[in-house]
Amino acid sequence: MAAVPINELRAHVGETVTVRGWVVTTRSSGKIAFIVLRDGSGYLQAVLSKKEVSDATWETYGSLTQETSIAATGTVREEARSPGGYELGVSALQVFGSSPDFPITPKEHGTTFLFEHRHLWLRTRRQVAIARVRHEVEQAIRDFFYQNGFTLVDTPILTGAIGEEAGHLFATDYFDLGKAYLAQTGQLYVEAAAAALGKVYCFGPTFRAEKSKTRRHLTEFWMVEPEVAFNDSADNMRLQESFVSYIVARALERRKEELKELERDIAPLERVVAPFHRISYTNAVVRLNELGSDIAWGSDLGGDDETLLAQQYDRPVFVFNYPKQVKAFYMKENPEDPRTVLNNDCLAPEGYGEIIGGSQREDDYDKLLARIKEQHLDPEAYRWYLDLRRYGTFVHSGFGMGLERTVAWICGIPHIREAIAFPRQIHRLYP
Ligand code: 4AD
Ligand code: MG
Repeated sequence: MAAVPINELRAHVGETVTVRGWVVTTRSSGKIAFIVLRDGSGYLQAVLSKKEVSDATWETYGSLTQETSIAATGTVREEARSPGGYELGVSALQVFGSSPDFPITPKEHGTTFLFEHRHLWLRTRRQVAIARVRHEVEQAIRDFFYQNGFTLVDTPILTGAIGEEAGHLFATDYFDLGKAYLAQTGQLYVEAAAAALGKVYCFGPTFRAEKSKTRRHLTEFWMVEPEVAFNDSADNMRLQESFVSYIVARALERRKEELKELERDIAPLERVVAPFHRISYTNAVVRLNELGSDIAWGSDLGGDDETLLAQQYDRPVFVFNYPKQVKAFYMKENPEDPRTVLNNDCLAPEGYGEIIGGSQREDDYDKLLARIKEQHLDPEAYRWYLDLRRYGTFVHSGFGMGLERTVAWICGIPHIREAIAFPRQIHRLYP
């Protein structure tokens, strides 16, 4: 008999089928027993009546514990009170693998314990819901770019040039060529690709050996980075707001059930529509000082400043034109105020802080070279990158959106480490 996934049972009402999965819970009155079963596609209530099944089957039921893997065979019935709307009237059970003392029980566990058991924790309802939202966000990202004429370009993970910050690199020995670094960004490479293909993006894992232990930092995270030829910084922000609002709308439309499971208040997400708010860095500092922050012009916004500022708005906010000294070497100098660059961060509401960093890129050969030297980077490693300014230089802009921060925000979960299946943090390499 063919096995049927739980989410396809509606097409089999009245038929006898087999469902394979794992036991979530069992409960019995002595005469009637219930098994909640999950198979990755959904949850199903299976019902056994002692007098209708064989003694052996009733005994098998008695041996089931949380996460035992089984096959349950029986008749599919419509049952409005049951999760999913269907139930299985069981006639036979088969155990594949027992599961004595599954470590994660319905009682509360500490986070350290849960992350030690991440490989098992993934099976629980909340974690399944988060995984599905992440999956939807990733698909929405790809669909948005596909529909808008972008070409996907996969960029290297082993690189010879520092992408963002010299201090935050994972380095490894690379044969006779010295050090290779794990990519902090694919940006430099998509800039090259933008001159070939116009509108491009990369989407992959990136690495930061940052000693940050905040709820917003991972050492390995996924970033999506579009780059567009002839977009200036204003175009870049318009692209970001249409992109972010598309993704949020997709999650609201297709992941209602999951957001409900996560008890996410969706009202703030429903307000995420273009246009977003815009404030210059300089005005943001003034505003923050009024709100009680002691930030001074010239320093980067801290996490608390971001939270405080974003709280003033009902939708995401762009903070643009930061001081040059706190931003990466590749950002274009602002011709109207050379102390600043043509960049922006996008801050999510509800305390989630920066989800996007973007900028117009320095397209002037001499200025870029000067910046590379100022930051004590090796111009030789950037020869190819400088070539982009030597052969048909062009106004171009792009941004990077952190997937885990975006997913954490959409899910309304407090820490980004739950937004990826196997988080990598300073103190976590297991499992
Ligand atoms: O602001 P960042 O460092 O920008 C870049 O890497 C640019 N090269 C992007 C570009 O213009 N193509 O990082 C971009 C985003 C952040 O806004 C944040 O969402 C995420 O990546 N991010 C992190 N997420 C988790 N853990 C970390 N340690 C992160 N660092 C950055
Ligand atoms: Mg940033």
